[in-house]
Amino acid sequence: MSNLSEALSFSGQIAFVTGAGQGVGRQTALTLAAHGARVVVNDYFDERAQVVTAEIKSAGGKALALAGDVTNYEGMQAAFAHAAETLGAAPTILVNNAGNAGATDSLSDLAPFWETGPDEWQRWFGTNLYGVLNCCRAAVPGMIEAQQGRIITVVSDAGRVGEPHLAVYSGAKAGAAGFMRGLAKAVGRYGITANCVALGGVATPGVQDMIDNEDAVKQMLKHYVIRRLGQPDDAANMIVFLASAAASWVTGQTYPVNGGYSFAV
Ligand SMILES: NC(=O)c1ccc[n+]([C@@H]2O[C@H](COP(=O)([O-])OP(=O)(O)OC[C@H]3O[C@@H](n4cnc5c(N)ncnc54)[C@H](O)[C@@H]3O)[C@@H](O)[C@H]2O)c1
Repeated sequence: MSNLSEALSFSGQIAFVTGAGQGVGRQTALTLAAHGARVVVNDYFDERAQVVTAEIKSAGGKALALAGDVTNYEGMQAAFAHAAETLGAAPTILVNNAGNAGATDSLSDLAPFWETGPDEWQRWFGTNLYGVLNCCRAAVPGMIEAQQGRIITVVSDAGRVGEPHLAVYSGAKAGAAGFMRGLAKAVGRYGITANCVALGGVATPGVQDMIDNEDAVKQMLKHYVIRRLGQPDDAANMIVFLASAAASWVTGQTYPVNGGYSFAV
């Protein structure tokens, strides 16, 4: 497909976006819908999923709110089955966006790794790694049947270069990226691509505490070539590109979208 506008049309396609009730996931859902996709808006919190779904519909788009916890294997199997039944076909685009500290925990008050234990580690691995496995497991059979698919997992530069206060999160995100590389090799023959977008600091409700600390933001931005925080659409634009027909020869990769915080070679 040589025309980029045509390649960025998602007309007739169904996208499932996790954690789409706010932040990067919300913007991704809005952008996919604006380009013609029918979007399944997943979030742990039903109210958030409903608000974004209403936003999409009032802009003339098509969306289905589907609350659910990505860490729940059976719940995600049921969510994908429900989406396929309601919309008449299985989603062929999956955006694994739900992340950070999970739905009910905060990114603040982080203890050093050596003062934490398995209960603390689970919240990071639950959403950032097992949530990705659960959703891919639920989505891939439908994609194989359709002989087409796009999987985009939102990771973090923490998973590429490490963050000292977020060591377990760094490991969970690196695990998700490693999983996506393996999955990419397994599903390429069915016309499915699998990639990651590794974000630097993006201004979202999930990191509001950090944004409110002006000194901390100033210190942080000294390490960014482009001296501003990312915005949700900085992330969504790359995710949507990878979800599009324009990216059919791109798979197994992790793309930093990070204002130059780190460089990929
Ligand atoms: N914001 C940043 O600075 C930043 C930086 C690097 C990576 N990331 C990654 O980008 C992605 C989006 O981040 P954000 O800042 O937009 O998030 P956010 O915290 O603002 O919003 C995430 C949404 O996901 C939902 N969610 C969380 N756990 C869930 C679960 N188990 N099941 C279903 N829904 C769940 C939450 O309810 C919330 O509405 C995450 O994967 C995050 O790890 C963010």
